[in-house]
Amino acid sequence: MRIVLVGPPGAGKGTQATRLAATLRVPHISTGDLFRANISQQTELGKLAKSYMDAGNLVPDEVTIAMAKDRMEQPDAENGFLLDGFPRNVSQAEALDELLKTEGIKLEAVLDLEVPEEEVVKRIAGRRICRNDSAHVFHVTYSKPKQEGVCDVCGGELYQRDDDSEETVRKRLEVYHSQTEPIIDYYKAQGLVVTISSLGPVDEVTRRALEALKRED
Ligand code: AP5
Ligand code: ZN
Repeated sequence: MRIVLVGPPGAGKGTQATRLAATLRVPHISTGDLFRANISQQTELGKLAKSYMDAGNLVPDEVTIAMAKDRMEQPDAENGFLLDGFPRNVSQAEALDELLKTEGIKLEAVLDLEVPEEEVVKRIAGRRICRNDSAHVFHVTYSKPKQEGVCDVCGGELYQRDDDSEETVRKRLEVYHSQTEPIIDYYKAQGLVVTISSLGPVDEVTRRALEALKRED
């Protein structure tokens, strides 16, 4: 399956993508995680991305699209992928359409995770992620690690993302509404959007997502 996940910061895209990718046996491709890996490896791309991310702005399309394209062309993504955080504006969606068209493949669904803004703030304030792999995501109350500050998956140190300050989250939400939400209408015009609520226990949301995707088969 080829699926795009969309939703505001803190909607649970990363949390759900890890689970859905395992069930659907496709790679989870998160542009946010790819940027964070570049930042921790101190690459040129990481240095560039960090300045935009810390301000809550989008990283320029040119570098983002090239990075996403490169990842989608890896052998493990040949038979499908779950995109998390890409595309994030209409020009990225158009670039993705072009890329898929040249390869003669299509998206099957765009899964839209809905969550009220006050919940976003609570989720992001308590989020802790792993230094070794930013796909290892926890929450100080909702998804507690067994040992405080330590990743259950790999034993790595948990920390709070630099862009999770209240001010930056507010900016990210603004950017989501102005730049990312329009892609929902773009994909509605293609009949691809499935909307689910992201409220409730993580397992329940996963169940809802799998049900909704099944109906799209
Ligand atoms: P990115 O990393 O994509 O961040 P985001 O979209 O803001 O989303 P988040 O990672 O904040 O939230 P999430 O929805 O994944 O929630 P999570 O599962 O962690 O992007 C970061 C930055 O990179 C951007 O601002 C931009 O600068 C740049 N960037 C990335 N892609 C780009 C692109 N395509 N173009 C340009 N720039 C780009 O969950 C949040 C918390 O809630 C966790 O603690 C989790 O444990 C908890 N939680 C999850 N589900 C539940 C539940 N059901 N109940 C209770 N708690 C829950
Ligand atoms: Zn870890």
